[in-house]
Amino acid sequence: MKNVYKAIVCSLLVLVIGNLSVVQAQQRYTDYDPIADFYNRFWSIPLERLAIGKLEKVLLPNLKPKAEILDLMCGTGHIAATLHQKGFRMTGLDGSAKMLEYAKKKIPQMKTILADARYFTTPKKFDAVICMSDGLNHIMKEEGLTKAFTQVYKALKPKGQFVFDMNWEERYFKAWNLRGLRVEYDNVEGIISSSYNKINRVGSIKFWLYYPIDQAKNTWKRKAWELTQYCYTPEQIKKALQKAGFQTIKVYEANQDLGDARNAGRAYYVCKK
Ligand SMILES: C[S@@+](CC[C@H](N)C(=O)[O-])C[C@H]1O[C@@H](n2cnc3c(N)ncnc32)[C@H](O)[C@@H]1O
Repeated sequence: MKNVYKAIVCSLLVLVIGNLSVVQAQQRYTDYDPIADFYNRFWSIPLERLAIGKLEKVLLPNLKPKAEILDLMCGTGHIAATLHQKGFRMTGLDGSAKMLEYAKKKIPQMKTILADARYFTTPKKFDAVICMSDGLNHIMKEEGLTKAFTQVYKALKPKGQFVFDMNWEERYFKAWNLRGLRVEYDNVEGIISSSYNKINRVGSIKFWLYYPIDQAKNTWKRKAWELTQYCYTPEQIKKALQKAGFQTIKVYEANQDLGDARNAGRAYYVCKK
């Protein structure tokens, strides 16, 4: 009888562990949902200009007209919209439904995929995949980064190109030190702070936004959010790319290789399948 109980307990454990791994496999990154409006208004446009400037140097001249591009972690779609206007056939993928809503509004004809970069699959294969504005630093574990690179590799056509940028440590030292930056829009008031912890290599941006409830009574609702990033070493990034299958990898550091001192510490990767 004892053995029967043991067998039942073991089967239950297998079931529970099996289900846990299914739940994990279905995780989706949604941290931008609460700040999608803020991002669309303040960050999307300057980041689009920065990204397009770099893509014009390292990717676009090598693509045929109307090439198929997947914009991984496309956010609110400013970059995809510009590439769409240039004639490329765009697909946008993001984990945040709210960010993707903005992207859909900008380019109604663009196919969008609500999915996590670590687990996505697409039946279609692309000439290029891009992932701009340090989105990949939001993946907090090396294993997750390798998974995302592996899915990108699978989504590319033979000889397809993968271009992305990630923050190296210099960028966190230089730019992740906001102290109570004040923002104001549509009656919303807020404060943003950022910091970098060099011991655990985690960067953090905190938002405190105050939404008016009743302006006559001066009552407000406060919402607080945090976004985090992990600072990978260049060696970790290269190792993850190689594990995923990429062998041809070129790296351009914004300041030293692309003459962009303001963005020192931002590294642009151009990888070929
Ligand atoms: C800094 S924004 C960049 C957005 C866009 N690429 C741009 O340049 O404006 C980062 C984006 O990556 C998305 N993101 C972060 N981690 C993700 C993941 N694991 N899977 C899917 N999307 C993710 C966020 O939802 C957000 O829209």
